[in-house]
Amino acid sequence: MAPGNLIDGRAIAEQLHTETAQRVAALKARGVLPGLVFVRVGEDPASRVYVGMKAKTSARLGLWSDTQVLPETTSEAELLALIEKLNRDPRVHGILVQAPVPSHIRASLVYSAVKPEKDVDGFHPVNVGKLMLGDASGFRPCTPAGVQELLIRSGVPTDGAEVVILGRGDIVGKPLTSILCQKAKHANATVTLCHSRTRDLAAHCRRADILIAAMGVPEFVKAGLVKPGATVIDVGVNRVPDPAAKDGSKLVGDVAFAEVQPIAGKITPNPGGVGPMTIAMLMQNTVRAAELASR
Ligand code: GUN
Repeated sequence: MAPGNLIDGRAIAEQLHTETAQRVAALKARGVLPGLVFVRVGEDPASRVYVGMKAKTSARLGLWSDTQVLPETTSEAELLALIEKLNRDPRVHGILVQAPVPSHIRASLVYSAVKPEKDVDGFHPVNVGKLMLGDASGFRPCTPAGVQELLIRSGVPTDGAEVVILGRGDIVGKPLTSILCQKAKHANATVTLCHSRTRDLAAHCRRADILIAAMGVPEFVKAGLVKPGATVIDVGVNRVPDPAAKDGSKLVGDVAFAEVQPIAGKITPNPGGVGPMTIAMLMQNTVRAAELASR
Protein backbone atom coordinates (compact mmCIF):
# COMPACT_ATOMS: atom_id res chain seq x y z
CA MET A 1 0.00 0.00 0.00
CA ALA A 2 1.05 3.55 -0.66
CA PRO A 3 1.78 5.58 2.46
CA GLY A 4 -0.75 8.20 3.59
CA ASN A 5 -2.65 9.88 0.79
CA LEU A 6 -0.46 8.77 -2.13
CA ILE A 7 -2.00 7.19 -5.23
CA ASP A 8 0.52 4.49 -6.08
CA GLY A 9 0.57 4.42 -9.89
CA ARG A 10 3.30 1.78 -9.97
CA ALA A 11 1.29 -0.66 -7.85
CA ILE A 12 -1.92 -0.05 -9.83
CA ALA A 13 -0.04 -0.48 -13.12
CA GLU A 14 1.28 -3.82 -11.84
CA GLN A 15 -2.30 -4.98 -11.15
CA LEU A 16 -3.15 -4.13 -14.76
CA HIS A 17 -0.02 -5.87 -16.04
CA THR A 18 -1.05 -9.06 -14.23
CA GLU A 19 -4.43 -8.95 -16.00
CA THR A 20 -2.81 -8.15 -19.36
CA ALA A 21 -0.23 -10.94 -19.03
CA GLN A 22 -3.07 -13.44 -18.53
CA ARG A 23 -4.68 -12.25 -21.77
CA VAL A 24 -1.31 -12.57 -23.54
CA ALA A 25 -1.05 -16.15 -22.30
CA ALA A 26 -4.57 -16.92 -23.56
CA LEU A 27 -3.69 -15.49 -26.99
CA LYS A 28 -0.48 -17.49 -27.15
CA ALA A 29 -2.40 -20.65 -26.29
CA ARG A 30 -4.36 -20.02 -29.49
CA GLY A 31 -1.16 -19.42 -31.45
CA VAL A 32 -1.41 -15.62 -31.52
CA LEU A 33 1.61 -13.55 -30.48
CA PRO A 34 0.59 -9.91 -29.85
CA GLY A 35 2.98 -7.60 -31.71
CA LEU A 36 3.70 -3.89 -31.22
CA VAL A 37 5.98 -1.73 -33.37
CA PHE A 38 7.42 1.54 -32.10
CA VAL A 39 8.49 4.15 -34.62
CA ARG A 40 10.85 6.84 -33.43
CA VAL A 41 12.01 9.66 -35.73
CA GLY A 42 15.19 11.43 -34.65
CA GLU A 43 17.03 11.28 -31.35
CA ASP A 44 14.85 13.24 -28.92
CA PRO A 45 16.32 12.07 -25.58
CA ALA A 46 12.95 11.86 -23.79
CA SER A 47 11.43 9.83 -26.65
CA ARG A 48 14.36 7.39 -26.48
CA VAL A 49 13.69 6.84 -22.80
CA TYR A 50 9.90 6.48 -23.23
CA VAL A 51 10.13 4.05 -26.15
CA GLY A 52 12.82 2.07 -24.31
CA MET A 53 10.55 1.68 -21.27
CA LYS A 54 7.57 0.66 -23.41
CA ALA A 55 9.66 -1.95 -25.25
CA LYS A 56 10.97 -3.34 -21.97
CA THR A 57 7.46 -3.67 -20.54
CA SER A 58 6.27 -5.35 -23.76
CA ALA A 59 8.97 -7.99 -23.34
CA ARG A 60 8.14 -8.49 -19.66
CA LEU A 61 4.47 -9.17 -20.48
CA GLY A 62 5.32 -11.58 -23.30
CA LEU A 63 4.48 -9.35 -26.27
CA TRP A 64 6.65 -9.21 -29.35
CA SER A 65 7.90 -5.72 -30.11
CA ASP A 66 10.20 -4.00 -32.55
CA THR A 67 11.57 -0.46 -32.54
CA GLN A 68 12.15 1.28 -35.88
CA VAL A 69 14.44 4.28 -35.55
CA LEU A 70 14.45 6.69 -38.49
CA PRO A 71 16.87 9.60 -38.93
CA GLU A 72 15.77 13.17 -38.11
CA THR A 73 15.99 13.93 -41.87
CA THR A 74 13.37 11.29 -42.79
CA SER A 75 10.79 12.70 -45.20
CA GLU A 76 7.07 12.61 -44.58
CA ALA A 77 6.68 10.24 -47.55
CA GLU A 78 9.27 7.82 -46.14
CA LEU A 79 7.56 7.74 -42.76
CA LEU A 80 4.14 7.23 -44.37
CA ALA A 81 5.58 4.38 -46.46
CA LEU A 82 6.83 2.65 -43.32
CA ILE A 83 3.43 3.04 -41.65
CA GLU A 84 1.74 1.58 -44.75
CA LYS A 85 4.07 -1.43 -44.61
CA LEU A 86 3.25 -1.96 -40.91
CA ASN A 87 -0.48 -1.55 -41.60
CA ARG A 88 -0.24 -4.52 -44.00
CA ASP A 89 1.95 -6.73 -41.76
CA PRO A 90 -0.30 -9.30 -40.00
CA ARG A 91 2.26 -9.85 -37.21
CA VAL A 92 1.82 -6.22 -36.17
CA HIS A 93 -1.25 -5.56 -34.03
CA GLY A 94 -0.22 -2.14 -32.73
CA ILE A 95 1.71 0.77 -34.24
CA LEU A 96 2.99 3.63 -32.10
CA VAL A 97 4.72 6.63 -33.66
CA GLN A 98 6.31 8.39 -30.72
CA ALA A 99 5.48 12.10 -30.48
CA PRO A 100 6.94 14.56 -31.13
CA VAL A 101 7.89 14.02 -34.78
CA PRO A 102 10.30 16.53 -36.41
CA SER A 103 8.66 19.81 -37.42
CA HIS A 104 8.95 19.15 -41.19
CA ILE A 105 6.58 16.18 -40.75
CA ARG A 106 2.87 16.83 -40.29
CA ALA A 107 1.92 14.86 -37.18
CA SER A 108 -1.79 14.89 -38.08
CA LEU A 109 -1.03 13.18 -41.41
CA VAL A 110 1.08 10.55 -39.68
CA TYR A 111 -1.57 9.69 -37.08
CA SER A 112 -4.26 9.53 -39.75
CA ALA A 113 -2.13 7.06 -41.72
CA VAL A 114 -2.08 4.42 -38.97
CA LYS A 115 -4.89 1.90 -39.53
CA PRO A 116 -7.51 2.63 -36.82
CA GLU A 117 -7.52 -1.08 -35.84
CA LYS A 118 -3.76 -0.81 -35.07
CA ASP A 119 -3.89 2.66 -33.53
CA VAL A 120 -3.10 1.64 -29.95
CA ASP A 121 -2.20 5.29 -29.20
CA GLY A 122 -5.80 6.35 -29.89
CA PHE A 123 -4.67 9.30 -32.03
CA HIS A 124 -6.42 8.44 -35.33
CA PRO A 125 -9.40 10.73 -36.08
CA VAL A 126 -11.74 7.71 -36.11
CA ASN A 127 -10.68 6.75 -32.59
CA VAL A 128 -10.79 10.38 -31.45
CA GLY A 129 -14.34 10.60 -32.81
CA LYS A 130 -15.43 7.35 -31.16
CA LEU A 131 -14.08 8.61 -27.85
CA MET A 132 -16.08 11.80 -28.19
CA LEU A 133 -19.23 9.79 -29.00
CA GLY A 134 -18.73 7.36 -26.13
CA ASP A 135 -18.35 4.46 -28.59
CA ALA A 136 -16.28 1.88 -26.71
CA SER A 137 -15.25 0.03 -29.89
CA GLY A 138 -12.38 2.48 -30.47
CA PHE A 139 -8.96 2.75 -28.84
CA ARG A 140 -8.58 5.38 -26.14
CA PRO A 141 -5.37 7.36 -25.76
CA CYS A 142 -3.17 5.84 -23.07
CA THR A 143 -2.45 8.71 -20.69
CA PRO A 144 -6.03 9.95 -20.21
CA ALA A 145 -7.32 6.35 -20.04
CA GLY A 146 -4.64 5.71 -17.41
CA VAL A 147 -5.77 8.71 -15.36
CA GLN A 148 -9.36 7.41 -15.34
CA GLU A 149 -8.14 3.95 -14.31
CA LEU A 150 -6.07 5.49 -11.47
CA LEU A 151 -9.18 7.26 -10.17
CA ILE A 152 -11.25 4.06 -10.40
CA ARG A 153 -8.70 1.85 -8.70
CA SER A 154 -7.96 4.32 -5.92
CA GLY A 155 -11.64 4.71 -5.10
CA VAL A 156 -12.10 8.33 -6.19
CA PRO A 157 -15.70 8.77 -7.40
CA THR A 158 -16.22 10.96 -10.47
CA ASP A 159 -20.01 10.83 -10.64
CA GLY A 160 -21.23 14.42 -10.22
CA ALA A 161 -17.74 15.54 -9.20
CA GLU A 162 -16.23 18.89 -10.17
CA VAL A 163 -13.22 17.96 -12.28
CA VAL A 164 -10.85 20.71 -13.37
CA ILE A 165 -8.27 19.86 -16.03
CA LEU A 166 -5.37 22.22 -16.69
CA GLY A 167 -4.06 22.03 -20.26
CA ARG A 168 -5.96 21.56 -23.55
CA GLY A 169 -3.45 19.36 -25.36
CA ASP A 170 -4.57 16.72 -27.89
CA ILE A 171 -2.81 13.92 -25.96
CA VAL A 172 -4.19 14.56 -22.46
CA GLY A 173 -6.48 17.53 -21.74
CA LYS A 174 -8.94 17.28 -24.63
CA PRO A 175 -9.41 13.48 -24.60
CA LEU A 176 -9.56 13.36 -20.79
CA THR A 177 -12.37 15.92 -20.88
CA SER A 178 -14.27 13.60 -23.25
CA ILE A 179 -13.66 10.54 -21.10
CA LEU A 180 -14.77 12.05 -17.80
CA CYS A 181 -17.86 13.90 -19.08
CA GLN A 182 -19.42 10.80 -20.73
CA LYS A 183 -22.77 9.59 -19.51
CA ALA A 184 -21.19 6.39 -18.25
CA LYS A 185 -19.95 4.53 -15.20
CA HIS A 186 -16.71 5.98 -13.80
CA ALA A 187 -17.39 9.24 -15.65
CA ASN A 188 -20.44 11.55 -15.26
CA ALA A 189 -18.23 14.39 -14.03
CA THR A 190 -18.72 18.10 -14.50
CA VAL A 191 -15.51 18.87 -16.36
CA THR A 192 -13.92 22.30 -16.73
CA LEU A 193 -11.02 22.46 -19.18
CA CYS A 194 -8.73 25.37 -18.32
CA HIS A 195 -5.87 26.72 -20.41
CA SER A 196 -3.50 29.64 -20.86
CA ARG A 197 -6.35 32.02 -21.75
CA THR A 198 -8.66 31.05 -18.89
CA ARG A 199 -9.83 34.01 -16.84
CA ASP A 200 -9.38 33.56 -13.06
CA LEU A 201 -7.82 30.13 -13.25
CA ALA A 202 -7.36 30.06 -9.47
CA ALA A 203 -11.11 30.30 -8.86
CA HIS A 204 -11.71 27.28 -11.12
CA CYS A 205 -8.95 25.26 -9.46
CA ARG A 206 -10.19 25.95 -5.93
CA ARG A 207 -13.61 24.53 -6.80
CA ALA A 208 -12.21 21.23 -8.01
CA ASP A 209 -12.93 17.95 -6.25
CA ILE A 210 -10.44 16.44 -8.70
CA LEU A 211 -7.69 18.68 -10.08
CA ILE A 212 -5.69 17.30 -13.00
CA ALA A 213 -2.56 19.16 -14.09
CA ALA A 214 -1.47 18.50 -17.68
CA MET A 215 -0.24 21.83 -18.99
CA GLY A 216 3.50 21.35 -18.83
CA VAL A 217 4.45 24.18 -16.48
CA PRO A 218 6.90 23.07 -13.77
CA GLU A 219 5.28 23.02 -10.29
CA PHE A 220 2.49 25.38 -11.36
CA VAL A 221 -0.12 23.98 -8.96
CA LYS A 222 0.69 25.50 -5.58
CA ALA A 223 -1.16 24.85 -2.32
CA GLY A 224 -3.29 27.98 -2.78
CA LEU A 225 -4.95 26.47 -5.89
CA VAL A 226 -6.10 23.31 -4.15
CA LYS A 227 -9.30 22.82 -2.17
CA PRO A 228 -8.49 20.95 1.05
CA GLY A 229 -9.29 17.27 0.58
CA ALA A 230 -9.26 17.41 -3.23
CA THR A 231 -7.71 14.65 -5.34
CA VAL A 232 -4.70 15.97 -7.28
CA ILE A 233 -3.38 14.18 -10.38
CA ASP A 234 -0.05 15.33 -11.82
CA VAL A 235 0.44 14.43 -15.49
CA GLY A 236 3.36 16.83 -16.05
CA VAL A 237 6.86 15.82 -17.05
CA ASN A 238 9.16 18.85 -17.17
CA ARG A 239 12.95 18.89 -17.33
CA VAL A 240 14.35 21.82 -15.32
CA PRO A 241 17.93 22.92 -14.49
CA ASP A 242 19.34 21.47 -11.28
CA PRO A 243 22.95 22.39 -10.49
CA ALA A 244 23.07 19.62 -7.86
CA ALA A 245 22.26 16.87 -10.38
CA LYS A 246 24.93 14.92 -12.30
CA ASP A 247 23.61 15.98 -15.73
CA GLY A 248 22.61 19.46 -14.49
CA SER A 249 18.87 18.84 -14.74
CA LYS A 250 15.98 17.00 -13.09
CA LEU A 251 12.36 16.09 -13.86
CA VAL A 252 9.49 17.77 -12.05
CA GLY A 253 5.75 17.61 -12.51
CA ASP A 254 3.12 20.34 -12.89
CA VAL A 255 2.32 20.14 -9.17
CA ALA A 256 4.42 21.60 -6.33
CA PHE A 257 4.20 18.26 -4.56
CA ALA A 258 5.80 19.14 -1.21
CA GLU A 259 3.35 21.93 -0.43
CA VAL A 260 0.24 20.36 -2.02
CA GLN A 261 0.49 16.86 -0.52
CA PRO A 262 -0.41 17.94 3.05
CA ILE A 263 -3.72 19.50 1.99
CA ALA A 264 -4.74 17.06 -0.77
CA GLY A 265 -7.13 14.23 0.01
CA LYS A 266 -5.26 12.02 -2.44
CA ILE A 267 -2.35 12.85 -4.72
CA THR A 268 -0.19 11.12 -7.32
CA PRO A 269 3.55 11.10 -6.74
CA ASN A 270 5.59 12.12 -9.77
CA PRO A 271 7.35 9.99 -10.89
CA GLY A 272 5.38 6.90 -9.91
CA GLY A 273 1.87 8.20 -10.57
CA VAL A 274 0.49 8.65 -14.09
CA GLY A 275 3.61 7.55 -16.02
CA PRO A 276 3.40 3.81 -15.28
CA MET A 277 -0.33 3.90 -16.08
CA THR A 278 0.32 5.23 -19.60
CA ILE A 279 2.43 2.17 -20.32
CA ALA A 280 -0.10 -0.18 -18.72
CA MET A 281 -2.89 1.17 -20.92
CA LEU A 282 -0.70 0.84 -24.02
CA MET A 283 -0.11 -2.82 -23.22
CA GLN A 284 -3.84 -3.31 -22.66
CA ASN A 285 -4.71 -1.60 -25.97
CA THR A 286 -2.20 -3.74 -27.85
CA VAL A 287 -3.49 -7.00 -26.41
CA ARG A 288 -7.03 -5.92 -27.24
CA ALA A 289 -5.96 -5.12 -30.83
CA ALA A 290 -4.52 -8.63 -31.11
CA GLU A 291 -7.69 -10.17 -29.64
CA LEU A 292 -9.90 -8.28 -32.09
CA ALA A 293 -7.67 -9.10 -35.08
CA SER A 294 -7.66 -12.82 -34.27
CA ARG A 295 -11.32 -13.37 -33.50
N1 GUN B 1 4.43 11.53 -26.48
C1 GUN B 1 3.95 11.87 -25.25
N2 GUN B 1 2.93 11.06 -24.92
C2 GUN B 1 2.77 10.20 -25.94
C3 GUN B 1 1.87 9.11 -26.19
O1 GUN B 1 0.99 8.77 -25.39
N3 GUN B 1 2.03 8.45 -27.35
C4 GUN B 1 2.98 8.80 -28.26
N4 GUN B 1 3.05 8.12 -29.39
N5 GUN B 1 3.81 9.80 -28.09
C5 GUN B 1 3.71 10.49 -26.92
